[in-house]
Order: sequence, then C-alpha cells, then structure tokens
Amino acid sequence: MSSQDKIRKLIELREQARLGGGIKRIEKQHAQGRYTARERIDMVLDEGSFEEFDMFVSHRCTNFGMEKTTFLGDGVVTGHGTVDGRVVYIFSQDFTVFGGSLSETFALKICKVMDQAMKVGAPVIGINDSGGARIQEGVMSLAGYAEIFQRNIMASGVIPQISAIFGPCAGGAVYSPALTDVVIMSDKTSYMFVTGPKVTKTVTGEDISVEDLGGATVHATKSGVAHFRADDEDEGLMLIRKTLEYLPQNNLEEPVQTECSDPADRLDDELNDIIPVNPNQPYNVKDIIYTIVDGEQFLEFHRHYAKNIVVGFAKFDGMPVGIIASQPNYLAGVLDIDASRKAARFVRFCDAFNVPIITLVDVPGFLPGSIQEYGGIIIHGAKLLFAYGEATVPKITITLRKSYGGAHDVMGSKQLRGDLNYAWPTAEIAVMGGKGAIEILEGRNIKKIEDPEEKAKYAAKKEAEYTEKFANPYQAAKYGFIDDVIEPRNTRFRIIRGLRTLATKKDLNPPKKHSNIPL
Ligand code: HXC
Repeated sequence: MSSQDKIRKLIELREQARLGGGIKRIEKQHAQGRYTARERIDMVLDEGSFEEFDMFVSHRCTNFGMEKTTFLGDGVVTGHGTVDGRVVYIFSQDFTVFGGSLSETFALKICKVMDQAMKVGAPVIGINDSGGARIQEGVMSLAGYAEIFQRNIMASGVIPQISAIFGPCAGGAVYSPALTDVVIMSDKTSYMFVTGPKVTKTVTGEDISVEDLGGATVHATKSGVAHFRADDEDEGLMLIRKTLEYLPQNNLEEPVQTECSDPADRLDDELNDIIPVNPNQPYNVKDIIYTIVDGEQFLEFHRHYAKNIVVGFAKFDGMPVGIIASQPNYLAGVLDIDASRKAARFVRFCDAFNVPIITLVDVPGFLPGSIQEYGGIIIHGAKLLFAYGEATVPKITITLRKSYGGAHDVMGSKQLRGDLNYAWPTAEIAVMGGKGAIEILEGRNIKKIEDPEEKAKYAAKKEAEYTEKFANPYQAAKYGFIDDVIEPRNTRFRIIRGLRTLATKKDLNPPKKHSNIPL
C-alpha cells in the first residue's frame, strides 16, 4: 500500500467514525429535535479548536454476538478544545451508537480526558445522552461508571465540571452529573431518574410519565437537581460557555477579570427609594442586582427553585462574583430547607473556585413550622452557616432591610468572617421583629390590661418603642458588626472598591483531613 493509499484509508476511517451509528440514526436524532454528539461539541467549543482523542477505539465485548457490531469511537466523542480561548476537556455521548450506552471502552475514553484535565488544570464539560449501562457488557459497564464517579469526586473543587443532559440519563448514570458543579437540562428532550416509570409502577404502583418523573421542569423546580432548564440544546450549550466565563481554570487560579465599559463610579439614584416604606411590603431584589452589576448581566442559577433566595454569577468592574440575595418577593425572603441547601451549595461552589461572594440580605428569619422542623431545617440551615463560615474568598455583605435572628448570623455576618459588612439606612438588624419581641417581653403586662382598646394601645406603643430602638442598622454599627451605613445609590461603587481592596486577601482554615459539614 502506498503512502497515499494509507492516508486515504485514514481519511476513510475518520469519515466512518464521524458517522457514529450511521446516517439513519443521525436522521432519527435530528427528527427528535436533538443534535448529534459532534454537533454539540462544535457548538460549545471555539470554532475549529476541537482535538479528538480515541476516534478508533471500539468495544471488546463478545457477549450476544457483539463482536459482529462495532462502531469506531464506541458511542462517545472525547477530546479537548477551547472556550473563549481557554482550554477545556469534553466528552459527548453519542446516542446513535448503541443508544449512547456506556461500555468498558466508553468509560476508559471519558476517564482519559478527565485524567488529563486534572493534570492540565482545565474544566471538563460532559454532555449526556445515553441509555445507561451497556446491557451486553454487564459488570464491566458498572465498573466503568464507578471509575468515572471516582474521578468526578477527585476533580470536585479542583477543576470546574459542567454537565449538560440532552437526552436520557437514568439509573446510576445520574450520579456522574450529580457529582459535578453545574447541571443543565434541555426542556422536553431530557430526563434524569434513578428508577424509570416502568419499574416505579411495578414496585410502588405509582403511575407517572417520564416527563413528570424526571423531566427538566421537575428537576429545575422541585428537586433542584438541575441548575438550569434550557429551552433547547442551543440555549443549553450557550449556558455552558456563559458559566465558564465566571470561573477560573482550576482552584489554584483566580477568575479572569475582563474589560468593563460600565462606569465603576456609576451612582444609582433610584436605589435610594427602592425599599418600600412599609416594612412588610415586598420588592424584587433582582431589580437591585441588575442595577448594581456590570451591564445588567446576571447569570442566575436555580431560577425556578427555592425562589426565596436568588443566587448567580455577575461582574463588578469586570471582576466575577457570586451573588446570594434574599428575595422579599417570594415567601418574604425567608430561609427554609430548600433555600438553605441552594445557597449553601452555591457559596461552596464560589469558594472552591476563588469567586468572591456578595450577599444582599433582607431576611425575616427561618421559616417556622413542623414541616420545616421534621424536614431537618436545623441541619439544612447549618449547611448554609457552615458554607459561609468556611469560605475564605472575599465576602461582602450588604444588609438592605431585615436581618433577624439566626438568619442574620447565617447570611454572611461579620462573625462568619465577613470582610466588609455594609448596611443601608433601611436595615433592621435585631434578634426578632417588634411584634414577636413585645409578645415575649411584655406578654405578662399586656395580659393584665382588661380593656381591649387599652391593651392594643399599650402593645402598639411598646412595639413602636422596640422598633425605634432596634429596627435600624446603628445598634450593629455601634459594635462594629456593620462597618459602615451606606447610601443605597453608592452600593455599586462601594462593592467595587471593596473587591479591589480585598483582591489580595488571604485567609486559611486549620489543616484537617476534611470538614464534617452537616450533610
Ligand atoms: C445497549 C442500548 C441501551 C443499553 C439503548 N440501546 N439502550 N444498547 N445497552 N442500555 C440501543 C437500542 O438497542 C437501540 O439499538 C438504540 O440503542 C436506540 O434505542 P431505542 O430503544 O431504539 O431508542 P428510544 O426508543 O429512543 O429509547 C431510548 C431508551 C431505551 C429509553 C434509552 O433505549 C431504553 O429504555 N434503554 C434501556 C435503558 C436501561 O434500562 N439502561 C440500563 C439502566 S441501568 P439499535 O441498534 O436498534 O439502534 C443503568 C445502571 C447504571 O444504567 C449503573 C451505574 C452505577
């Protein structure tokens, strides 16, 4: 064979590999509104940057006559490329080859990119579209999954790991995405569950559809498994690129500061009037976020889950930050189980990757009641407390309005190593609200008054006295728990100045094997 023939053969083999499971299956994929594994890679990476590994790998299985059916690449496309010029590693499961099911060699391919990503210190993007364990390969497939899980665990907090789910992801296969930092699901075309509808029906009698059991809406609203529900794959792929913009390549690097055309000293006069006069009236904290950040750009995580707290990435003068904000517009911004879990995970995500944390506080307290107590609000609230207290990145907390009780301590307080704690003049920092406080402090005296009118008058007077004394930022400022009371319109500027000053901050936790966060 001449060299030319050999090169021709190489080109033919490459073309064959690029076809995956063949034209018919590609057409079926397209007909369902889904891209192929390769199309997804091309869309998420910078144009022409993809370098593929292991195109010629095929499976080694001989069970059920499998040796007669092999496909080059064996159902997963792997390699590396760049996103905005920065190196990323990627694997993309190819549903056209054995339904994207995971074989021994399929797992080895994924492990290879994960291992190299760890050595290089670059993020890993995983695109999931798979029928799960390759049934013909039995335990080899289970072992393959476990090899990937182990790598996900070792990579956690070292390199960013982002998962997109664009098709089936069922059984134990769900645990690889679940171990990663960000899960994006495409609406209507993806699902995730440990046990599918058929087995669910057999075991429990519950009759439920695929979508209702594990569709993107369920995981974006009820379980919190998905950080993003994308309208379609295009949006999902864009979200991967967007998320990476705020993250460093690994835990030893800082997030990249970008050029910013939004003036750092911009004053936002409208913020001076944004807090309603009535302390029980809600407002939308996102209006404040969009006003103070660069160019009104806020990448919100978990938008549809635990809406009483808002979390996401933004930039200040080009510096990436994570924002955690109470949302008075939903359940008065109270902290409950879901909000605590959501925010705790986000705080730890930011801290792991050196992203400073900005906290906007308007929290009336923890949600009372048996549902919360039986559900373990103590342990879940402790997660958030732990996450804040453990975080060593720059932490800037702005108290907008309420900051009551335990929730005050939890939400980035000075004593949890808050670096800059500012309050607006509208802040109310106290053990509890006036009404509750007076019931406890004055209950006995109030009971003694027989005339209902006099009773109400006395209670109102005492409540007003309490509110006057405690519902302000100056008690906390008096003790230095609040570093300064600031005019709301200066918030952007004060945060930017704080971030610049804290850029060289060093803080350490004592050496230990690992903490025992209340999981
Ligand atoms: C081998 C598989 C496969 C699998 C699909 N295929 N799943 N091959 N192992 N797990 C093949 C099909 O035989 C078919 O091959 C092709 O992929 C496309 O599958 P279809 O069924 O035609 O596609 P569709 O109708 O879209 O249905 C998709 C599906 C279904 C819902 C995913 O294929 C399915 O239910 N598959 C089995 C899922 C499953 O039970 N997996 C094991 C879960 S347990 P041809 O040649 O016809 O194109 C598990 C444990 C993991 O994963 C444990 C980790 C710790």
